[in-house]
Amino acid sequence: MTEPRKPRAHLILDPAFTIGAVDRRLFGGFVEHLGRHVYDGIHEPAHPSAGPDGFRRDVIELVKELGVTTIRYPGGNFVSGYNWEDGVGPVAERPRRLDLAWHSTETNEVGLHEFQGWLDQVGSDLMLAVNLGTRGPKEAMELVEYANVPSGTARTEQRTANGRAEPFGVGMWCLGNEMDGPWQLGHRDAEDYGKLAAMTAKAMRQVDRGLELVVCGSSGREMPTFGEWERVVLEHTYDDVDLISCHAYYEELDGDLASFLASGVDMDAFIEQVVATADHVRALKRTDKRINISFDEWNVWYLTKWKEQESTFTIDEWPVAPRLLEDIYSVADAVTFGGLLISLLNHADRVTSASLAQLVNVIGPIMTEPGGPAWRQTTFFPFSLTSRAAHGDALRVVLDADTTLTSRFGDVPVVAAAATSDGSSVSVFLQNRHTAQATSVTVDVRALGATGTVTAQGIWDRDVYAVNDLSDTERVGPRGNDTVSLADGILTIELPPVSWTTISIATA
Ligand code: AHR
Repeated sequence: MTEPRKPRAHLILDPAFTIGAVDRRLFGGFVEHLGRHVYDGIHEPAHPSAGPDGFRRDVIELVKELGVTTIRYPGGNFVSGYNWEDGVGPVAERPRRLDLAWHSTETNEVGLHEFQGWLDQVGSDLMLAVNLGTRGPKEAMELVEYANVPSGTARTEQRTANGRAEPFGVGMWCLGNEMDGPWQLGHRDAEDYGKLAAMTAKAMRQVDRGLELVVCGSSGREMPTFGEWERVVLEHTYDDVDLISCHAYYEELDGDLASFLASGVDMDAFIEQVVATADHVRALKRTDKRINISFDEWNVWYLTKWKEQESTFTIDEWPVAPRLLEDIYSVADAVTFGGLLISLLNHADRVTSASLAQLVNVIGPIMTEPGGPAWRQTTFFPFSLTSRAAHGDALRVVLDADTTLTSRFGDVPVVAAAATSDGSSVSVFLQNRHTAQATSVTVDVRALGATGTVTAQGIWDRDVYAVNDLSDTERVGPRGNDTVSLADGILTIELPPVSWTTISIATA
């Protein structure tokens, strides 16, 4: 019996053909008051590594290593019932509140000031979301005043009294969260939300003209209102906002690994359809202004598990920092995740901001145990490696690849690829979607002036369901791929099945 032919893919890279500059904000993260994300995650005053501010230093170090740029806060579904005023002022006087989104108790020990203090240590910028679920323009503009106006008003004096004379200077703001979702507190239809968002945006900009505003798009491409939601909302808000959000989560369903690995195909379509809708409204408005995308929630999330847990909550159960959404990620999850990063890079011209949802414990690349260790999940590695390597311009990759069959998307290219160039080096990002076979890849880099130094590393494992967990926090990590070589301007590499790889090429 003859062996099936190994799948092949051929790429051509030319620095003259670019998609657009890679905005560093593509490597943003997201911290929501949810489960053990803030409390018993980033903030655990009794932990041996905690500083006087209660934040765990070991977690701060991992977040720095991850390389996240902007961080969206404080939600998520949480923000739609949140009073930002509860989170400022003396901690001992802050109210405990029901968090209806996650059926928990919010202690408000961490609020805007504390979170900014954490961000200063992490070295990331704040992206703040306002509550448009149970609140409106008044509270949003008061928050802008509190956060950004230098001095001279009751709100700014309140900020100074709370320990911060200088403004926070928050540049990026989200106008609510997932307002298209029936689960959202204050959910409304596109007409109502569009009007509210336009009103709120105008009010916030009357306080600070320099704000960059993100209006809510669909919370998933599978939403029944998808497409029409974007059109209607943008017709109301086009002149008042800069970006529209996309949210997408993927999970392996019914053991269908092939479709799961190809989730980037869905993300590609999602982005392209939102761009088409935004540009349609641009035509209707007869304007040159372009609306870009803030992909401000994306990840692998085993949502079906969460739905089962959610259905068990009762009226007498409102725990503080319960274990929620604590998915443990496998190698296959990390490879799919790497494919999503490839999709984002390939749309760098229109996706100018993105937030990995989320960061610590809650569907996070970082896990912690109270009083115990903090460690990297498998998904940590594609993110940190890409954030470190993707600089300069995203290149328009010409890809000629064999296909692999998936039940959800039909035949898809067996390899997904993206590349970036910053003048002194080129980074190539590759995902082998084949569930069983290695794929031989050749990359024509003759136009790059490659000097010969080429390295490759990535994520794969004989056991595609291997994980890092408390019992073995370092079972999975990045590994070098020494099949890579370069001769006469042609790079060759063999990608293991179910793998994600980044190649670094020094150029003249
Ligand atoms: O990231 C978890 C949740 O997913 C967020 O709170 C919400 O915006 C989305 O549905």
